[in-house]
Amino acid sequence: MFGMELLHDIDQNLISDIVKIDRDSFPEGWEHSEAKEYFSELLKNVRNIRIILKVNGRSMGYLIAVPHNEAKKDLEDDDPLICEDGSRFYIESVAILPIYRRKGGLKAMLDLLVEELKRMNLHKLSMHARISNGFSSFIQKTLKVTQIRRIDKWKYYNFEEPTDYIEAEINRAGN
Ligand SMILES: CC(C)(COP(=O)(O)OP(=O)(O)OC[C@H]1O[C@@H](n2cnc3c(N)ncnc32)[C@H](O)[C@@H]1OP(=O)(O)O)[C@@H](O)C(=O)NCCC(=O)NCCS
Repeated sequence: MFGMELLHDIDQNLISDIVKIDRDSFPEGWEHSEAKEYFSELLKNVRNIRIILKVNGRSMGYLIAVPHNEAKKDLEDDDPLICEDGSRFYIESVAILPIYRRKGGLKAMLDLLVEELKRMNLHKLSMHARISNGFSSFIQKTLKVTQIRRIDKWKYYNFEEPTDYIEAEINRAGN
């Protein structure tokens, strides 16, 4: 059902699609104040891993991962316990439109991310994972978690929900 692609050529239509997916996927009030600029910068940065999820050729979800140390620079005031690690990638953002959820889209994008990391000879991920929608527990059952700690009210969820900071190896849990 799904098609996934690693993105290389970024045009304005793609940026608009992703801004829209993001706006329609998260609760109201959580959107980035400068969403277009935020996604444009993330998508155009060739060091980032950018994945789009398509159904019948139309964009329905995305996943963007960035070098962990870039995320640390941006987040260290909000999460002072993050440590530097030059051989890790951080899942900056992931979303799938509500009508296409629970059909394996996240799993498919994560598989492609893992494949790309292996190609780059990297084996470690980090992220702040939402708990309320099962994202944190999905990661815990899918990857080999090496660190997990909870932050009660996360700024990027408008201080409305907790998050789990997770570090993991890309080998499947138990392998
Ligand atoms: C997180 C998100 C991308 C998951 O998408 P998805 O289409 O459900 O992904 P999958 O179908 O691959 O499901 C992966 C697993 O997540 C878990 N899961 C998904 N939705 C869940 C829910 N509402 N409650 C509990 N677990 C859930 C399940 O373990 C599921 O596997 P299963 O269906 O085999 O049980 C989607 O819910 C989303 O876009 N949410 C809004 C944006 C967001 O919160 N992003 C994460 C920010 S940290």
